[in-house]
Amino acid sequence: MKNCKANKSLIAIFDSGVGGLSVWRELTAILPGFHFIYLADNAYCPYGPRPQEDIIARTKLIADFFISHGASLIVVACNTATAAAIDSLRMSYDIPFIGMEPAVKTAALHSKTGVIGVLATLGTFNGKLYHRTLERFASDIKVIEKAGTGLVELVEAGKTSAPETRELLKLYIDPMLEEGADHIVLGCTHYPFLTDEIKKITGDNVVIVDPAPAVALHTYNTLQQHGVVSEEKPDPLTQTIFYSTGPKENLIRVARSILNAIPDEQFIEKSF
Ligand code: DGL
Repeated sequence: MKNCKANKSLIAIFDSGVGGLSVWRELTAILPGFHFIYLADNAYCPYGPRPQEDIIARTKLIADFFISHGASLIVVACNTATAAAIDSLRMSYDIPFIGMEPAVKTAALHSKTGVIGVLATLGTFNGKLYHRTLERFASDIKVIEKAGTGLVELVEAGKTSAPETRELLKLYIDPMLEEGADHIVLGCTHYPFLTDEIKKITGDNVVIVDPAPAVALHTYNTLQQHGVVSEEKPDPLTQTIFYSTGPKENLIRVARSILNAIPDEQFIEKSF
């Protein structure tokens, strides 16, 4: 296990691209006193179709990068990377890792029809974590699973309300509605950026479940348990440094759609 010297108030977040910004948005809201470093691994995006060993190797490189910056906790803001690599990361480093997993428990608990839909990547559906979650929380529920193939690329390209995106979403969501799903779990951090389009298909009677707020709360509690506190008051506009392993334009566009005056110098391209 690598011994890590942490800078107490620095939290690191990564995803294959811009999707993890849906988690970053919640984290900065609940932890305003912390500094953040966000990495979009867009040189390797999408992770979904990649073999598990590749994702493990890649996420270790990213963890090394964060730890060299003094991160005290790493949020794996990607369901696919969590499914493939979180056990291995936790065994390799001595700082806490927070992962994502589709919020099947919440949806199953609140479903009135006994049918829920889950939209995630193939990598997430193939992971042990997802199957464990199904066994524990959804054994008496009908779960309609759809791999959202193509959606990550469309979100990366900023085509969140393009006709082709709408068509693909209909293809995945209509079968869930036909089976009577009253909750749809967003099992990929890119998908919350499609919520408006998803709601146009589902109408108001279906609950769209985004796990990001619960993950942010879990991060807050984990920091408390580890006694990691921050009494700083960073300016929200310079609170986060954003790295991308490929071109940074998508990251700038989506980050600024959340907080529009983030200065140019906060965005850095870093290939590895
Ligand atoms: N945001 C990632 C997730 O939550 C996208 C995965 C991918 O790159 O395929 O699964």
